[in-house]
Amino acid sequence: MFTLEGKTAIVTGAAGGIGAACAYAYARHKIGGMVLTDVRQENLEKTAAKIEAETGVKSVCVAVDLRKEEADKALAAEAKQKLGKIDILLNCAGVSRRGSLYDVTEEQWNFTFDINVKGLFFICREVYKIMESQGGGVIINLASQAARSGGIVVTPDYPSSKAAVLTLTKSLAKAGASKQIRVNTVAPGLIATEMTSDFGYDPGTVPLGRIGTGEDVAGACLFLASDYASYITGACIDVNGGIAMI
Ligand SMILES: NC(=O)c1ccc[n+]([C@@H]2O[C@H](COP(=O)([O-])OP(=O)(O)OC[C@H]3O[C@@H](n4cnc5c(N)ncnc54)[C@H](O)[C@@H]3O)[C@@H](O)[C@H]2O)c1
Repeated sequence: MFTLEGKTAIVTGAAGGIGAACAYAYARHKIGGMVLTDVRQENLEKTAAKIEAETGVKSVCVAVDLRKEEADKALAAEAKQKLGKIDILLNCAGVSRRGSLYDVTEEQWNFTFDINVKGLFFICREVYKIMESQGGGVIINLASQAARSGGIVVTPDYPSSKAAVLTLTKSLAKAGASKQIRVNTVAPGLIATEMTSDFGYDPGTVPLGRIGTGEDVAGACLFLASDYASYITGACIDVNGGIAMI
């Protein structure tokens, strides 16, 4: 039986479409404990309440803006204290915007990189330290098909930031391998969430004939978090309905 029994996780971006679906999937597969985090406290608590009502798994909600290193340090410390250990870090927090290259201000460029790359790096590093002291763990970072294709309707800061996530993940995987810390990326294609609600994609352009769901992405995040993926590190799983086959 596919299970996360006895394991604990931090899920960032857990108030969002993919993060919530992943947290729900982890709970359905018997995770021992979770810290759910997002900048949107109200939505976060709704996610946790729904998961508890449907699976019985209670989560700790921590509202944090991940862009600051100090906030990442505090989050990792609180998660360790509440969960006792951290086996899985799933990074789903992220931002993107529809638009053209002329819509990118310096402020927007920095905002995108601050959350998608800088915040992700610092929370990874804080949790990595804890995993190193525990003798291992799993980190999963959400990149995007846009990292390879350059994106379709989003402003160029977004695919650039996700390309950084792909490379950063490999750097962390190299550093972590001898410490039994596995680090992988999941690269979704077109997934129906709040982030993409104004993108207007045509399902007919997807070889599998439909836009993806958070649950589609959760499958890959569940597999990578599990012991079934124990020999996989530095890899990227594409969840894109066949839009790109690399
Ligand atoms: N939806 C897609 O088609 C798609 C495709 C490729 C990659 N992705 C990636 O998957 C991840 C999840 O996306 P989603 O579709 O669930 O989007 P979403 O907008 O539904 O969720 C993203 C979550 O991140 C949170 N967040 C944003 N800034 C934050 C900050 N500073 N601190 C803490 N939390 C913050 C948001 O509040 C939100 O709940 C993102 O990294 C996204 O780039 C999504």
